[in-house]
Amino acid sequence: MNKPLNIALAGLGTVGVGVIQLLHENEDIITKRAGRPIRITSVSARDRNKDRGVDLSNYRWVDDMSAMAGADDIDIVVELVGGSDGPALSLARSALSAGKSLVTANKAMVAHHGFELAQLGEGNECTLKYEAAVAGAIPIIKGLRDGAAGNRIDRVYGILNGTCNYILSAMESDSSDFADVLSAAQARGYAEADPSFDIDGVDAAHKLAILASLCFGTKINFEAVETYGIRGLMAPDIRQAAVLGYNIRLLGLAEVDNDKQALFQRVQPYLVKRDHPLANVIGPTNAVVAEGNYSGRLLFQGAGAGDKPTASAVVADIIDLARGDKGAVFGMPCEQLREIIVAQSGDRIGKSYIRIMVADKPGVLAEIAAVMRDANVSIESLIQQDAGQKDGEALIAMVTHNGPESAITQTIETLSNSDNMVDDPMVMHILGD
Ligand SMILES: NC(=O)c1ccc[n+]([C@@H]2O[C@H](COP(=O)([O-])OP(=O)(O)OC[C@H]3O[C@@H](n4cnc5c(N)ncnc54)[C@H](OP(=O)(O)O)[C@@H]3O)[C@@H](O)[C@H]2O)c1
Repeated sequence: MNKPLNIALAGLGTVGVGVIQLLHENEDIITKRAGRPIRITSVSARDRNKDRGVDLSNYRWVDDMSAMAGADDIDIVVELVGGSDGPALSLARSALSAGKSLVTANKAMVAHHGFELAQLGEGNECTLKYEAAVAGAIPIIKGLRDGAAGNRIDRVYGILNGTCNYILSAMESDSSDFADVLSAAQARGYAEADPSFDIDGVDAAHKLAILASLCFGTKINFEAVETYGIRGLMAPDIRQAAVLGYNIRLLGLAEVDNDKQALFQRVQPYLVKRDHPLANVIGPTNAVVAEGNYSGRLLFQGAGAGDKPTASAVVADIIDLARGDKGAVFGMPCEQLREIIVAQSGDRIGKSYIRIMVADKPGVLAEIAAVMRDANVSIESLIQQDAGQKDGEALIAMVTHNGPESAITQTIETLSNSDNMVDDPMVMHILGD
């Protein structure tokens, strides 16, 4: 039998314990596929005395996790701590500097520091693996980096946050309001006590920035992701969209315009035609579509989080390393990754959904129509005039014809200054073909 691959495992929470359990439960099959045994030798977390439901007695406990990588009996480091900086980043840097490949599920760290870490790995003959950082169990990184390697990818988009998808599909099925569904999701463990990273779109933006780098051969640019969440959504939005044949999904979407050398990245609730596969993804599931110039549309779907699905992706990376895979982190050597300019969203052409809460009095509709006419926005359908949240208010929702987003922005800016608005207008774009 070949010599074992020795692992230092930092982080013994949901995912860390899942990895220990998976390596134990599927030991036979994993050893055969890896071609050698995989052995955890040392572990680290904050609290040494916490009962984690797994036997840690065979592993060496290390208090200072960034010291783990220096040990001679360690081949690779697995970081399952979390956080874009702090101990996770120190550990990642020390592991890669010491020539020890790093496996991580940490999308925040990869989105912020992935390029630097990839370079560090390249310079020290080791690598960074992050399958679990994007879309949980779905082998999206491997699928795109290896399976679709021959393609030019023009667009990648998908449901990248299971919490938001759970909330949106629950709002859809029982017409509930956002706040009620969020509380239920927290009670069932589908949303964190502080859900901001999920519901404000930041978590999905981390994953999108990583996917964009991989798909388009660009340097990760998380700061350039336009990020909007789902807090502002109301039950009537879901109803109005349904009338027109759409479901609302929080999507991350990235597209590259090779002529203009520009990259567009956005996370936002989109209206998705009900016959599109993403419209039918319900619950805490993730799904990603990549459009390759030879492969056509590829759809990847599966569990986006949780101990077992995430451990599945972490262990897949560990097996790759045991087999000796040190392929390029973002699909090509770091020096080939391009700096790319940020695309202007105002130039994008598409249809939009606009919802406006107004004072219910004569002349208001005429005012809205005049503002839209002046901005050159034409209405495809005025879906419904629903009662507002309070007496004396009305909710107006409409879908525009195809047009530049800059015209929608102008419309919203003007309307926001009107005394007849009782709340900020809400805009969602419609996913185009
Ligand atoms: N949970 C998921 O479904 C999921 C899915 C995809 C990706 N991820 C990513 O996987 C990573 C781990 O997530 P998780 O859900 O397993 O987190 P978690 O349950 O909160 O576990 C985090 C672990 O890191 C340890 N830790 C935290 N801060 C530390 C510090 N300053 N020093 C030492 N140890 C520290 C904790 O120690 P103690 O236990 O002693 O407190 C705990 O064992 C994150 O990057 C997350 O984004 C998670």
